[in-house]
Amino acid sequence: SKLVGLVGWRGMVGSVLMDRMQAEGDFGLIEPVFFSTSNAGGKAPAQARNETTLKDAYDVDALRKCDIVITAQGGDYTTEVFPKLRAAGWNGHWIDAASTLRMKDDAVIVLDPVNLPVIQKALKDGGRNWIGGNCTVSCMLMGVGALYKAGLVEWMSTQTYQAASGGGAQHMRELLTQYGTLNAEVRSLLDDPKSAILEIDRKVIAKQRALSAAETANFGVPLGGSLIPWIDKDLGNGMSKEEWKGMAETNKILGFGEGFGKNSPQAVPVDGFCVRVGAMRCHSQALTFKLKKDVPVADIEAMIAADNAWVQVVPNTKEATLKDLTPVAVTGTMTIPVGRIRKLAMGPEYVGAFTIGDQLLWGAAEPLRRMLRILLD
Ligand code: HSE
Repeated sequence: SKLVGLVGWRGMVGSVLMDRMQAEGDFGLIEPVFFSTSNAGGKAPAQARNETTLKDAYDVDALRKCDIVITAQGGDYTTEVFPKLRAAGWNGHWIDAASTLRMKDDAVIVLDPVNLPVIQKALKDGGRNWIGGNCTVSCMLMGVGALYKAGLVEWMSTQTYQAASGGGAQHMRELLTQYGTLNAEVRSLLDDPKSAILEIDRKVIAKQRALSAAETANFGVPLGGSLIPWIDKDLGNGMSKEEWKGMAETNKILGFGEGFGKNSPQAVPVDGFCVRVGAMRCHSQALTFKLKKDVPVADIEAMIAADNAWVQVVPNTKEATLKDLTPVAVTGTMTIPVGRIRKLAMGPEYVGAFTIGDQLLWGAAEPLRRMLRILLD
């Protein structure tokens, strides 16, 4: 069986990846080799078979022996190791969660329930670099990819509600620490049902503004009880990098735009605002579509529901929304609910929807292990 090197398997995305590979029986189909950036020579995890010590993740000769390398180690690792490995003549398949290589011409953003034809064409053409997409984009396309595939979308605007986990494990901890600090500040007032709410509010805002540098080290400002309408770098043109990814990656995943030849569909404009909120690990998005024509809501729902095995249309009622369309309902599941589907006041071609995805599952780990399975077939 194929020698598959695993790098970054202990981190947050890597751990979710390991769990999913275990659950789907992937380890039975490969010969795994576990690498480490910090603990080479240590003991490999239980999934290891023949190679039970950890290899050095910076050892190009050790990596070169692998048929496939799958990494969730992060962008700095990719930047340092990937060019050396290719320069050493390695021709294996590189599967990566980091964004470093995503927009390179010789890389495919993998999300096979949405873009299997793009993946298959690249494979046929000798493609070797398979990169997981931005979490927000991947979750969105798992939900509403059907409308793009049908050529119905003239443009889309997305307003996101992104979870702390998108920043990393430390960000999740920081959010919860902040919530705890704020709660502790007003605990006695909360215990007294007759206390004045405006006094509670005053104390909370004073505490938020007084949070120490240590308590805001990751987000830079309080997130608990607040929000941050900027994610990733400032591109200097008024856009955040996260917002830029929306259009760039959506079209690249779908194979739309000039880079894909003159027979491919035109790039679809995608734009909006990306906002960090105090959710743990589910990214949510409010979508506005301008469709190319007036399509009945029932037809839109049917197309979305039929697109893949994980999408779930949530009826546009309060009851169903509260039950099935929240980060709390979706966390830890592979389900991608799409709800709030309705025509908007701007006209019959304008459609709104709301979708949620676990950003560690479909947003990060799952497309990688599914690409591994495609390569093993
Ligand atoms: N950029 C994403 C976020 C991380 O910060 O939420 C996953 O791509």
